[in-house]
Amino acid sequence: MMKLEIQNVSKRYSKNKYGLKDFSITIEKGILGLLGPNGAGKSTLLKMIATVNKPSDGRILLNKNNIIKDPNYMRQQLGFLPQDFGVYPNLNAFEFLEYMAAIKGVGGPNLKPRIKELLEGLNLQEASHRPIGGYSGGMKQRVGIAQVLLNNPKIVIFDEPTVGLDPEERVRFRNLISDLANDCIVILSSHIVSDIGTIADNVAIIKNGSLITHGNQDHIIATVTNKVFEITIKIEELSAFKLQHTIVSTSRKKADIKVRFITENPVERATKMEGNLEDAYLYITKNN
Ligand SMILES: Nc1ncnc2c1ncn2[C@@H]1O[C@H](COP(=O)(O)OP(=O)(O)OP(=O)(O)O)[C@@H](O)[C@H]1O
Ligand SMILES: [Mg+2]
Repeated sequence: MMKLEIQNVSKRYSKNKYGLKDFSITIEKGILGLLGPNGAGKSTLLKMIATVNKPSDGRILLNKNNIIKDPNYMRQQLGFLPQDFGVYPNLNAFEFLEYMAAIKGVGGPNLKPRIKELLEGLNLQEASHRPIGGYSGGMKQRVGIAQVLLNNPKIVIFDEPTVGLDPEERVRFRNLISDLANDCIVILSSHIVSDIGTIADNVAIIKNGSLITHGNQDHIIATVTNKVFEITIKIEELSAFKLQHTIVSTSRKKADIKVRFITENPVERATKMEGNLEDAYLYITKNN
């Protein structure tokens, strides 16, 4: 049974600059999606959990072990994809994964089959004997995802894993993640709210270094119940409309425009819609 407790953690980068401030959250098994605007503190949090950065204050416990005092307890069970993960351009994907395995102390007769399995799972088998330097951005990202899973980690942290992945590869990633053992903790950050929506059991929203909300998706989506609408208006009306309501999305319909928006007070001619995570994310970040 895995349990990660973040207790009153702050990260102070300079005198008045906090990456995270008095932040607390308890995470148990399952997939947690981390959402928040640029600079919210997502990477700051994930790096401290991964023990590559130390809190200025507070405690982080994994199964009651203080991982600031005993980082190896975390590292032995961890798979981590940093946001700025770099690969060695002269190695091919197979060699790179062997290299990472050696660093992680993973070996034995199962290693080669495991690497093959991961390369297949990430659709890299055909490219695996070409140097990584010639890969596309999305392919490099997938090599980064593969190295996370090499050591069968019990706690898995992905910082923006779906950046650069095309829609088909996103689906593949989602399947790979849902195959992870049931008693793992998986934490992933993304700006693509719909990715989090399809992958995560629970969602945490961070803003300005603080936790705004945390709970299962249904609970979070319930904050916009009866508040999401669609309406078709003239394009000229859009700028006035934007001043009054939170716009989720717009789509052109010849001379008209279809607007999905969030409002507290019903608008004439608008159709009430079922809310989704994107609606809730916009609503919550705007009002906090
Ligand atoms: N090494 C650092 N030195 C100083 N300030 C930093 C450092 N790293 C991050 N910050 C600041 O801390 C805040 C949180 O940054 P962080 O990278 O954690 O945000 P994020 O939520 O991951 O953003 P993004 O969505 O852009 O990846 C930002 O204001 C950032 O400028
Ligand atoms: Mg980040």
